Amino acid sequence: MQFTNRKILITGGNSGIGQALAEALQARGNRIVITGRKQASLRQMLDRNPDMAGYMLDVTDEAALAAFPAGLLADHPDLDAAILNAGIMEAEDYTADPVSLDVAERTIATNLTAPIRLAAALLPHLQSRPAAALVTVSSGLAFVPKAGNPVYSASKAAIHSWTQSLRHQLRETSVAIHEIVPPLVATELTPGQSRQAMALPLDAFIGEVMGILSQDIVPDEILVERVAFLRNAEAEGRFDAVFTALNG
Ligand SMILES: NC(=O)c1ccc[n+]([C@@H]2O[C@H](COP(=O)([O-])OP(=O)(O)OC[C@H]3O[C@@H](n4cnc5c(N)ncnc54)[C@H](OP(=O)(O)O)[C@@H]3O)[C@@H](O)[C@H]2O)c1
Repeated sequence: MQFTNRKILITGGNSGIGQALAEALQARGNRIVITGRKQASLRQMLDRNPDMAGYMLDVTDEAALAAFPAGLLADHPDLDAAILNAGIMEAEDYTADPVSLDVAERTIATNLTAPIRLAAALLPHLQSRPAAALVTVSSGLAFVPKAGNPVYSASKAAIHSWTQSLRHQLRETSVAIHEIVPPLVATELTPGQSRQAMALPLDAFIGEVMGILSQDIVPDEILVERVAFLRNAEAEGRFDAVFTALNG
């Protein structure tokens, strides 16, 4: 599917990567529907972009998540694509006693269960479109884990694996399955991250992603140059060195 003149849902479109992607895709002639958990930033985004549609949705609210797709498709029967971007990244300490599982459970619900449920609900509709796409958002940490964020890294490794299986199952349908694999990008995914010198500026990241999404044949994985260090570490025999570099 070409990412132009489409109607595209972006979860977590009120902040960071989702917000920037929503505005960049709209500038390329797409009609954008966003979801956000926080009402104030969702409202600000919609005020700034009056042509966008938006929904409040906490993807960890099981009832709200279950009800969302039917309402979305009733309002937007022309939906062509979904970018399942909403995610959280929090630290966990398995040396603590007791080990708290709050972060683990919240992370799995947000980063793994929610995209699976949304995809399951939206894929029958997407398959009815002549050309459609489902896009997941994993992370370079899917390929080399950050030890301070074990379930985050595992949730992204799981999303990567799940995306590969979806792509295979849907290979003879109209739905293309893509995976955006961001490196460290300057957003507030974790507090202060947007000011980290090592983080790729958000506009540079989005510029590269849009370049890839504009190619005649959009690759399965949307890989910006910076993420090759993590994405290809194991294949290139660098896993242990990169793990050490990442985790000290
Ligand atoms: N930035 C990076 O370095 C990086 C690297 C690799 C992968 N990623 C991935 O990129 C995606 C976007 O992250 P970001 O960097 O743009 O961070 P961000 O600015 O914190 O954005 C995260 C988005 O997810 C939404 N979200 C979180 N929990 C939610 C929930 N329970 N229900 C509904 N929405 C929820 C947030 O909505 P609210 O603002 O309303 O809470 C926000 O819109 C995530 O999947 C992240 O894992 C980011």
